Amino acid sequence: KESLMKAVKDYIRTIPDFPHEGIMFRDVTTLFGDPRGLRLAVDQMLHPYAGRRIDKVVGLEARGFILGGAIAHQLGLGFVPVRKKGKLPAATIGERYTLEYGEAEVEIHDDAIQPGESVLLVDDLLATGGTAEAGIKLIERLGGQIASCAFLVDLPELGGRKKLEGMGMEVFTLCEFEGL
Ligand code: PRP
Ligand code: MG
Repeated sequence: KESLMKAVKDYIRTIPDFPHEGIMFRDVTTLFGDPRGLRLAVDQMLHPYAGRRIDKVVGLEARGFILGGAIAHQLGLGFVPVRKKGKLPAATIGERYTLEYGEAEVEIHDDAIQPGESVLLVDDLLATGGTAEAGIKLIERLGGQIASCAFLVDLPELGGRKKLEGMGMEVFTLCEFEGL
């Protein structure tokens, strides 16, 4: 377990002071760009779900599309995008959420999830949990049930895991970094 977490972390690059001074940016593009890194991450992220009843994978724009698409393919499931406002062409529902600076809104096609479907929510990183919470609300408003939430990176000090677990969510993360 420990060595697996270390192996995953070793593929992730840290950029100090991006996008603002004092922020340590965890850059997952180096993991995505490495064939062993990408396979390790995808295989380990879907590992808990082998044999579970899941109907769909929902990925959060943008980095959640990369992992979510690969996980959906590997599980033999369809993929549904949650996108930033204004990008989806058909009828949508939206959820606003707060970011470090200001507000944002994400949307899902209103026919993308059927009532009662079991959904795996995927994103690259869990910080405050605001983005994931918005995704969860969208899925639940369509009548979907969240089987689990999977993230590559957890920043536990930002409280996202506590927030999601407080909402009754199951949360799986592959590795953690201290600090912001
Ligand atoms: C980042 C990251 C998560 C989210 C986590 O996305 O990819 O989606 O922030 O933060 P939170 O837990 O505090 O909500 P970002 O909004 O930078 O957009 P991107 O994935 O489109 O680059
Ligand atoms: Mg994101």
